[in-house]
Amino acid sequence: MSVPFVLMIASSDEHFREMVRDNLLNIPNSKVGSEYQEVSSNLYVRVMQDIERHPNSAVIIDLSEDTESGLKSLERLKQAVPDLYVIVSHYHADGETVIQAMRMGANDFLTQPIKRTDFREAMARFERAPKRVMTTESKLGKVYTFLGTKGGIGTTTLAVNFASVLAQRKQSVVAVDLDWTANDVAMQVGASPQYTLSEVAENLSRMDQALFESFVTRDPLGFYLIGPSDTLEQRSYFTEPMFREFATFLVEKYDSAVIDAGKNINDEVVASACQVSTTIFLVVNQEFASIRNAQRYLAMLVRTGYTQDQIKVVVSKYTKKVNSHLASLDQIKQTLNQPVFYGIPESASFLGAVNKARPLVADRQFAPEIDKTFRSFVDKATKPQAATAAAGA
Ligand SMILES: Nc1ncnc2c1ncn2[C@@H]1O[C@H](COP(=O)(O)OP(=O)(O)OP(=O)(O)O)[C@@H](O)[C@H]1O
Ligand SMILES: [Mg+2]
Repeated sequence: MSVPFVLMIASSDEHFREMVRDNLLNIPNSKVGSEYQEVSSNLYVRVMQDIERHPNSAVIIDLSEDTESGLKSLERLKQAVPDLYVIVSHYHADGETVIQAMRMGANDFLTQPIKRTDFREAMARFERAPKRVMTTESKLGKVYTFLGTKGGIGTTTLAVNFASVLAQRKQSVVAVDLDWTANDVAMQVGASPQYTLSEVAENLSRMDQALFESFVTRDPLGFYLIGPSDTLEQRSYFTEPMFREFATFLVEKYDSAVIDAGKNINDEVVASACQVSTTIFLVVNQEFASIRNAQRYLAMLVRTGYTQDQIKVVVSKYTKKVNSHLASLDQIKQTLNQPVFYGIPESASFLGAVNKARPLVADRQFAPEIDKTFRSFVDKATKPQAATAAAGA
């Protein structure tokens, strides 16, 4: 019996992705892993994160939209993960394209429109191909994004304390504030950064670690901190492609990036942050307005190719006292059709921490009980997942 495998699909063409999905339905022991709606130069970042979860996987890249940039993404992907099995696809099987793709490390080629028999045979070739041991733990950093479903529910608090605990554990960490309207991360840690994402944007072309660390604020706990500028008009200067380039820099150079995404999922930079995230923490509280929004957010994230295990529902300001205004964990779970990953209890100490302008976890004696709870949340959230995926294979 063959080993179950996962196919990742990279194409900006919805029909292509649908056609691959349809074809895969007929292949036993297979499923679609992630879908990438863009064949971009940092495709490899997402693929590397995904193959940690699904070590036995192949990627199919659609070259037909933009052959040149498709080949570039292929090249970077094969440089990053040489053992990865990659199938490319194009309308024309002209010698030039095929040869170039093969030189860049493609393992197979499918001509579009893809015939069922061709697809089946390609999958059989993949299944027969020798499987090298994939290095499961990639060297790439992790991206943890906290996305709020309502204002004022504790999204920033969670992001700030999460970054703090990782830094205390000697990880190299960058906290990124993408909430332009609130700009609260700096406030919660008592920093007043001189440089912001605008300077990141200006220096992207020559960005390296030394330059970045020379202008960015460093928290006493050790993590770096970068956020929006205080003038709201500056917002338009930090575009989605800039963020993508910045995110690539972050995952290449740091152990973890922790993003406060605020609550505006429609912001294109926030959407892009979700795209490169290892984990999205969807922050809710027990109010129905928040849970209803969570439903809509989940639907959107799943539509954009996220699997449910990448999205973790965190209940903030959790209280057991439920009433007609507050939902229980069970109700949340049922409404969202998704388990609740963690509940962070309501505690006045968080407000106390904000008043001190230091993260709650910075001082373990400040509120020992909630401190401990928070640390177990971080433990659970950073436990490697590949182990379970590999065990199933
Ligand atoms: N678990 C908690 N228990 C009690 N209070 C909390 C908790 N988490 C956060 N708070 C408090 O709630 C307030 C809002 O928190 P925070 O700024 O982190 O929320 P937010 O969702 O990021 O808000 P905004 O929409 O303004 O960005 C703060 O005063 C904070 O101290
Ligand atoms: Mg906030």
